[in-house]
Amino acid sequence: MSTFQAPKGTYDLLPPDSAKYLAVREAIATPLRDSGYGYVETPGFENVELFARGVGESTDIVTKEMYAFETKGGDRLALRPEGTASVLRAALEANLHKAGNLPVKLWYSGSYYRYERPQKGRYRHFSQVGAEAIGAEDPALDAELIILADQAYRSLGLRNFRILLNSLGDKECRPVYRAALQDFLRGLDLDEDTLARAEINPLRVLDDKRADVQKQLTDAPLLRDYLCDACKAYHVEVRELITAAGVAFEDDLKLVRGLDYYTRTTFEFVHDGLGSQSAVGGGGRYDGLSEMIGGPALPSVGWALGVDRTVLALEAEGVELELPAATSVFAVPLGEGARRLLFAKVTELRKVGIAADFAFGGKGLKAAMKAANRSGARYALVLGERDIADGVVQLKDMESGEQVAIGVNEIVAELEVRLS
Ligand code: HAM
Repeated sequence: MSTFQAPKGTYDLLPPDSAKYLAVREAIATPLRDSGYGYVETPGFENVELFARGVGESTDIVTKEMYAFETKGGDRLALRPEGTASVLRAALEANLHKAGNLPVKLWYSGSYYRYERPQKGRYRHFSQVGAEAIGAEDPALDAELIILADQAYRSLGLRNFRILLNSLGDKECRPVYRAALQDFLRGLDLDEDTLARAEINPLRVLDDKRADVQKQLTDAPLLRDYLCDACKAYHVEVRELITAAGVAFEDDLKLVRGLDYYTRTTFEFVHDGLGSQSAVGGGGRYDGLSEMIGGPALPSVGWALGVDRTVLALEAEGVELELPAATSVFAVPLGEGARRLLFAKVTELRKVGIAADFAFGGKGLKAAMKAANRSGARYALVLGERDIADGVVQLKDMESGEQVAIGVNEIVAELEVRLS
């Protein structure tokens, strides 16, 4: 062990497990790519104000969890705690919304940072794959995103997840509800912090996880009863479109989520095998965010799925991903002459696109064959001194154990045929 360890709340992805994370990212990205989402990558840090204004001044993410710092040049920056504000900032900065083709559909994959109390499924550095559809108000777009997330999870073999759905209203109806909820909360027996939160951000109180608080919230007014006609009609259509696609969901009338930018459609994907950190993903519509960060009105919707928790969910369900072996051919040279010749052949194989590896470090036959086995390669190429004299190499099928001698000059062509 070295003197150093991974910082608290973080962990390293190492082979062979790291392949699972790549596969999860790929499985989430595939349906997005197939549906017109283009890849976007933004910096790992942004102006701290972007998140304060975007995610919300009074949210836990901004007040407690952000890695904010001042640079030597005096800039106030923060490691990104989430992707939506950054992606929208990038789209606005590049004027993507003016190119005339709305919605702008983008997907991303990367690291995010929140100074949270670490526990299983909750880390200070974690990874998300996300999607944002910017600049269109269309229930079909909300439905598309929910359907694509469902498709991604299913393609991985996940089954025991649920989709929770709610509408948070818009700037017409939410303030009326907010006032009614505030009235209700003021009459409860709550601690000082929670009462203060009720004044600043009453909807967040609905998300309080404590049982004694939840008990008092049983009769809280529900946003559903305050939705304006436009929000109601919008929500009905989203629900109909998802249902028509055969995607099951549950109405969760108290779902508010931890970020302030949401309007109308809000949803969360939860997995029941994960304990308290059960949200494997979440998202919703954020029609006002663009204006909040200085842009024009651009109604938008998106989600982010947590890669770490998706991997935990797969483990909880006992799903074994089918991960293709990284190497198709493993070369085993016996002796110095064989080493040079086979190394050249490995390079040739790689050039034609055949994944090949080599027994480095001058191993003997036994250790080298063990390495070939471990690599998962379908074929081993074994070359000894006598083979060189005969102009052949031994091609061993690692599955059947069958071994044949083939001409050294036929290696590439023979393997191309066998592996096609
Ligand atoms: P979020 O719900 O804060 O939403 O995060 C999305 C997902 O990221 C969570 O469901 C969870 O799987 C994962 N996640 C969040 N925090 C942690 C953590 N500390 N450790 C491990 N995993 C974590 C957002 O970030 C929004 N930007 C989603 C969105 C996109 N809304 C609209 N567009």
